[in-house]
Amino acid sequence: ASSTEVDVSAIEPGQAIKAVFRKQPLFIRRLTPAEVAAANATPARSLRDPASLADRTKEGHEDMLVTMGVCTHLGCVPLGAAEGEVKGEFGGYFCPCHGSHYDTAGRIRKGPAPTNLEVPEYEFTSDTVIQVG
Ligand code: FES
Repeated sequence: ASSTEVDVSAIEPGQAIKAVFRKQPLFIRRLTPAEVAAANATPARSLRDPASLADRTKEGHEDMLVTMGVCTHLGCVPLGAAEGEVKGEFGGYFCPCHGSHYDTAGRIRKGPAPTNLEVPEYEFTSDTVIQVG
């Protein structure tokens, strides 16, 4: 009862959807090739919370970014998962509460948030379905 299944087959590259996991927002984004390239062009060790895109995704599904939609500063819901929402200066998510910018791998790049958007425990149960939790 504590896990959530999400069919991700309808998410187009460049789109994100919001789901709910343990009563909190969950963001699932299918990255475009350019977004993957942008994430991979940033050396992980240069970041506040060092992690590569590969560290934050599943092998063979590096274009599918699954994170909590909860800013790690004080818990607001970042923008960027809905059509037309501002994604911030690094193309991922933007928290308007105090101005935290997350990149296309959901990593904190600017602003007060101390850590990257959390990647919950999840797995692909098929090519198109993920089970979170
Ligand atoms: Fe997101 Fe403060 S809660 S920047």
